[in-house]
Parts: sequence; C-alpha cells; structure tokens
Amino acid sequence: MLRSLMLAASRSGRLRTFAENTPLLRPVVDRFVVGTTTDQVLAVAREITTDRLVTIDHLGEDVTDRSRAEANADAYRALLRGLDGLGPRVEVSVKLSALGQALAGTDGEKVALDHARRICEAAHAVGTTVTVDMEDHTTTDSTLGIVRDLRVDHPWVGAVLQAGLRRTEADCRDLAGSRVRLCKGAYDEPASVAFRERHDVDLSYVRCLKILMAGDGLPMVATHDPVLIDIARHLGRGRPYEIQMLHGVRPHEQRDLAAAGESVRVYLPYGTEWYGYFVRRLAERPANLAFFARSLLTR
Ligand code: FDA
Repeated sequence: MLRSLMLAASRSGRLRTFAENTPLLRPVVDRFVVGTTTDQVLAVAREITTDRLVTIDHLGEDVTDRSRAEANADAYRALLRGLDGLGPRVEVSVKLSALGQALAGTDGEKVALDHARRICEAAHAVGTTVTVDMEDHTTTDSTLGIVRDLRVDHPWVGAVLQAGLRRTEADCRDLAGSRVRLCKGAYDEPASVAFRERHDVDLSYVRCLKILMAGDGLPMVATHDPVLIDIARHLGRGRPYEIQMLHGVRPHEQRDLAAAGESVRVYLPYGTEWYGYFVRRLAERPANLAFFARSLLTR
C-alpha cells in the first residue's frame, strides 16, 4: 500500500517541481545521487573503478518536449566525450522516456531512437557500451523494439528485463544471447501483467536467471538481494556475468563481492532531475523513509 502510494507520488509533476526546487532536500538525496555535474560524476566513477565497474545514468525521464529530449541526448554525448580512457569500465544507462519516447504525436519512438543512436555512436567512439533501462510495462514493447533497432549497428547494446512482469521469462528466452540486465522491477504494475507478491517475483527472478545463464550473452544480475546473488554466483560458475547494484545501496557488500573476484558494476545516477529516481529508491525500502525523515529533522 505504502509502496503503491509512493510510486504514484514518483509520477507527480507537481511534487517533482516542488522537490527539485527545494535545496534543503539535496543533501538527503545525495545518498543515492552523486551530484549534478559531469565533473562530479566522473570523479566518483574514477574512484569506484579502482575495484568495480560503473554505469552512469544522466537523470531525467518522462520528457514532454523535444528540446528537453535533445538536451538530455546532448548531455549523454558530452559525458561520453569526457570518459577519457575510462571506457569500457564505465558505460552509460539511458531511459528512452528521457529521449522523447512518450512525446505527444506519433513520432516519439523515432525521436528517441534517433537520439539513442547518436548516443550509441558516441559510446562506440570511446570504446564503451550503452544499456537501455526499462520503465513501466506500457513501454516494454516499444523499448525492446528500439533496442532491437539499435542492435543492428551496435549488437552490444544492453536491454533491461524486469522479473516482476509475467512476460519476462519469454523475453529472456528471446534475448539470452545478448547483454541483458535482469532486475525485479521498480514500478507499480497491475496483477494482469505482473506478480504482486515479493515471493513470486523472486521465484520468477530465479527462473529468468537460469535462462540467461544458459545462454551465450552477458547476464547482468541487478539486485541487492543476497539470496539471489548467491544463486547467480552458483549458476554463473565458469562463465562471464556481472553483478550490478545501485550507488548508495549495500556498498560494503559491493566491495566484498569485488574483492572475492566478482565483476561488480555500480549504477551511478547524477543530475538535477532526481525526483522520480529518488522516490523509487525510498519506495523500495520502508526504512529509507525513516532515514529520510531523520536526515531532514536533524538538519
Ligand atoms: P529487494 O527490493 O528485495 O532488496 C533486497 C535488499 O537490498 C533489501 O532488503 C535491502 O537490504 C537492499 N535494498 C534494496 N533496495 C534498496 C534501497 N532502495 N535502499 C536501501 N536498501 C535497499 N528497475 C527497473 O524497473 N528498471 C531498470 O532499468 C532498473 N535498473 C536497475 C539497475 C540496477 C543496477 C539495479 C541494481 C536496479 C535496477 N532497477 C531497475 C531497480 C530494481 O528493479 C529494484 O527495484 C531494486 O533493485 C530493488 O530490488 P532488489 O533486487 O535489490 O531486491
């Protein structure tokens, strides 16, 4: 119930504008978001790459005008130009709704595809990769279609699949020969398309992992769940795979896994449009709300 309420709040334009323009919140947000500028995120990425890999997300989503989509694509290209030898240890993660996928009219998908193509070309030029994040279930077909188009020229483009969706086992079968990040899913989805019980999502995650680990692609195991990580390590023995976690979540475990020889990639978001991302992180763990309230009260 609380999670559903928070996830509804994460889509509220009014709350977004209020929160993003309230400087008081920024220090609290900093646990999950590394800063607002390219220089800040690259400095943190450089530090992390001493023992782990990184994927950088220039925050932004659900853009409703073309100029914003263009600005987001430009920000990615500038970021990639700044990688300066960090590729392929540092790649980027991209949300298609930040690139215009949902623009009113009929050509939102084409706008997003064009921008994503130019980001892929910039990534290729500096020897790194791009992973396309997955948003709510209404965008899954469109997003996988765009990934398919991008892979014609750039077969290394990564897709994200959400174990919470009932369709995902079938999608894993289709995509098991490629780079696939498997996560539980951060959106509030209806029972008609998604498992609503955590246990069912976990069981689905394991079934999907088995499919990806039996394929020829690169499974990217995006979870902080210690049980699922143990299962992935067991299934992945002797083959390449990555464990991926979010910046600010279980950092000690990230370093311990890297020290144990695992390929660990940290998802590193930056930028001024942090609201939706931040509220999804609060919704994932009720204890984060207490942390949030405490941080505000003690300021
Ligand atoms: P679960 O929520 O069960 O958490 C397991 C444990 O991890 C918790 O008990 C807690 O200790 C810790 N934990 C998890 N989340 C935490 C948080 N926010 N704060 C503090 N502790 C936390 N989703 C999506 O829909 N589309 C996408 O493209 C992506 N991309 C993505 C990339 C990467 C690298 C990761 C790690 C995750 C995503 N996600 C995502 C988010 C994902 O779907 C999911 O919502 C979160 O990872 C939380 O689920 P867990 O698998 O960690 O399990």
